[in-house]
Amino acid sequence: MKTRAAVAFGAGKPLEVVDVDLQGPKAGEVMIELKATGICHTDAFTLSGDDPEGEFPAILGHEGAGIVVEVGAGVTSVKPGDTVIPLYTPECRGCEYCLNPKTNLCQAIRTTQGQGLMPDGTSRFSLDGQPLKHYMGCSTFANHTVLPEIAVAKIRDDAPFDKVCYIGCGVTTGVGAVIFDAKVEPGSNVVVFGLGGIGLNVIQGARIAGANQIIGVDINPSKVELARKFGMTGFINPKEVPDVVEAIVEMTKGGADYSFECIGNVNTMRQALECCHKGWGESIIIGVAGAGQEISTRPFQLVTGRVWRGSAFGGARGRTDVPKIVDWYMDGKINIDDLITHTMPLDDINKGFDLMHAGESIRSVVLY
Ligand code: APR
Ligand code: ZN
Repeated sequence: MKTRAAVAFGAGKPLEVVDVDLQGPKAGEVMIELKATGICHTDAFTLSGDDPEGEFPAILGHEGAGIVVEVGAGVTSVKPGDTVIPLYTPECRGCEYCLNPKTNLCQAIRTTQGQGLMPDGTSRFSLDGQPLKHYMGCSTFANHTVLPEIAVAKIRDDAPFDKVCYIGCGVTTGVGAVIFDAKVEPGSNVVVFGLGGIGLNVIQGARIAGANQIIGVDINPSKVELARKFGMTGFINPKEVPDVVEAIVEMTKGGADYSFECIGNVNTMRQALECCHKGWGESIIIGVAGAGQEISTRPFQLVTGRVWRGSAFGGARGRTDVPKIVDWYMDGKINIDDLITHTMPLDDINKGFDLMHAGESIRSVVLY
């Protein structure tokens, strides 16, 4: 069949909206009609050409919501008509990673997904007979896409596509890092570096977890108002204090119980570790640093009890946890509406990238 898609033809080039060919789902696969998709920094990173795994031409996008239109042989967990969210971190429930409660990094289809291919090593998308690469196992910048069954989370049918698509990446990444990975306890003091789309979701995760202080760190003071609405209790602008780490240690009376780096900057990653409380403070890296960058600190920081760790997709097991996060939104426990600052049709998708680069949007969502 034909479907409309925004195709990335090469690094640094704007996306082009064209009709592409899409093959139906093979055994164990599901075809979805996308209703909405968010535009994320990771899409921009790949489009820039800096992503070592990025290959062109490809159909980017990994933060979607839609409806199942067709299933391949052997698919049992979803059926046509189901409301679903594509998962770039799948959940096969059988690999050694899925069977280990310490990780959410299912490896069942990792190799082919990294190559932009379906698990059988081929692509379902093509243009003029030439294959187009899938992206992060999702390719949500197409009106229809095909995914492995293990990469599809079935959610409730009354969830609004234009909001819950954000649970496919940003919301889960931030809220999940607090709840599933750090497991922040009530009464904890939490510090959040970067008050963008990820940081604000960390803040609301910390609020749900019952944190005591929630301190935001950002060089842009215009972020303060919304961050307070989401639960931030204190703010530090690194440009206004002589030493960020000292300022945090003072404000928290000893250091953070948990800190989260939501910028992707190796210098703030160091600050986020070193502002942690001696003996027990944990720092969680969420931001993605540029290719080839390295973090550093004095080993004594770890010897004296601080912990450095990272979080991917918020530690969430997609098919199990994503439907729960949708419930939290539907029950009013988390706020997504205020984070979606812009919407646009697929034809205007490049405007969404421009808004992101200009720092004018928190999230832009394409509506099909
Ligand atoms: N110190 C403090 N704050 C900073 C600094 C800095 N040196 N540099 C940038 N910031 C702030 C910005 O002002 C902005 O508010 O960090 C915030 C980043 O927010 P966004 O640009 O909206 O990014 P976001 O979508 O939240 O993603 C953050 O996570 O997913 C990854 O690739 C993504 O690495 C990126 C990170
Ligand atoms: Zn993303």
